[in-house]
Amino acid sequence: MVKKAVIPAAGFGTRFLPATKAQPKEMLPIIDTPTIQYVVQECVDSGIEDILIITGRGKRSIEDHFDRNTELESRIKEKEDETLYNQIRHIEDMANIHYIRQKELNGLGDAIYYAKDHCGHEPFAVLLGDTIINSVIPVTQQMIDTFEQYHQTIIAVETVPRDKVSRYGIVGGEKISDHLMQLNELVEKPDVDKSPSNWAIAGRYILTPEIFDAIEKTPRGKGNEIQLTDALRLLMKHENLMALSIEGQRYDIGNKLDYLKTTVEFALRRKEFAGPFADFLKETVNNMK
Ligand code: UTP
Repeated sequence: MVKKAVIPAAGFGTRFLPATKAQPKEMLPIIDTPTIQYVVQECVDSGIEDILIITGRGKRSIEDHFDRNTELESRIKEKEDETLYNQIRHIEDMANIHYIRQKELNGLGDAIYYAKDHCGHEPFAVLLGDTIINSVIPVTQQMIDTFEQYHQTIIAVETVPRDKVSRYGIVGGEKISDHLMQLNELVEKPDVDKSPSNWAIAGRYILTPEIFDAIEKTPRGKGNEIQLTDALRLLMKHENLMALSIEGQRYDIGNKLDYLKTTVEFALRRKEFAGPFADFLKETVNNMK
């Protein structure tokens, strides 16, 4: 049973500077909701209520966001806005959230190593704190269902256009169904003609505790950081790893263009904005022509 989740959220967010100079990128809102709240909601919707968020310097607002704010609560109560009050209380009660600080930013593999004591000997889910996945069945739930069937490390992947594979971490191996692949290759940003597939690593994982040993043995790689992909490649020598092609749309809010696209798409999906916002977009685009 997968009962715990780890959300790494300590990174610098250099691709989103200057906005991320003094605030976490994971707190950048999509309309009115911080990105990391969508990620925590995905855990909860997948039946996980024990969540460890890996934070670091300058990330205090993440803890504040999920903490109680009784002064704010009473102010909203005075205004008799029950919907807003319930919304705020919901954030505070969403899950059992723990925090640990990554002392130096040594990469995603290093960040996950901080979960060793918390996760102990249990498998756990990993959800990148800057990645939202919109889907009918929460992606972490899709991953857990697969894990329960195969009891192997599972890497979420999305299909990307062949000519774009060099932007992603790509998996390779033997397909065992339309959605599953038994892995024998993990490559970072391969050349288009050398890529083993067009399945790109998508920011969600189910890991077994053996990953901690693998991270310990992983030397520093790209950017002089301990990369999770390198640790998984090491693990693959002793264990079976699997990729699950997820059903859902992935949004990496860590880069500016995707952030903009996410905001627009989410706004168009919201009842209160859809009509007027779509009209505004059409008008703006027309005027620009
Ligand atoms: P990214 O690969 O986007 O790295 O991390 P980054 O450093 O945050 O961003 P850029 O490239 O400088 O713009 C993916 C997720 O892993 C976390 C990040 O917070 C993000 O949610 N992360 C990354 C850590 O927790 N620790 C790290 O050392 C690196």
